[in-house]
Amino acid sequence: MKRQLTAILTGAFLAAGTLVAADAKANYQKDCQKCHGADGKGQTIMGKKLKAKDYTDAAVQKKFTDEEAIKIIREGKKEGDKAIMKAYKDQYSEQEVKDLLAYIRKFAKK
Ligand code: HEC
Repeated sequence: MKRQLTAILTGAFLAAGTLVAADAKANYQKDCQKCHGADGKGQTIMGKKLKAKDYTDAAVQKKFTDEEAIKIIREGKKEGDKAIMKAYKDQYSEQEVKDLLAYIRKFAKK
């Protein structure tokens, strides 16, 4: 009985984990990919124009902390007066922002 319960709980836990990953991926594809690229390199038309960085480069990823990245995803990024990336705080919960960051961090991990 106990073993069965553990199996059920483990199953539920794994399913939840997969769901989060799938969500972050879907959100990334919907909202971030057009600039940051499916591969995280930022080599899209928009990404090149706005000088999105190469997130597959570990050195690039080291330049921003999780806190800074979360702030940028939530509040957007400006260059002078011009918004180069919009704020997503109204669209995504704190957890979803964290999941998006985790998704981006993975680009540099091979
Ligand atoms: C209109 C283009 C555009 C879109 C869409 C966009 N970004 Fe950005 N983002 C940029 C640019 C340009 C920068 C600044 C250069 C850089 O860091 O790549 C940036 C910076 C960032 C940074 C900060 C990295 C640093 O160097 O400090 C993070 C994290 C980030 N974006 C995540 C996201 C996520 C997550 C999404 C989707 C919800 C998203 N971006 C959507 C253009 C965009």
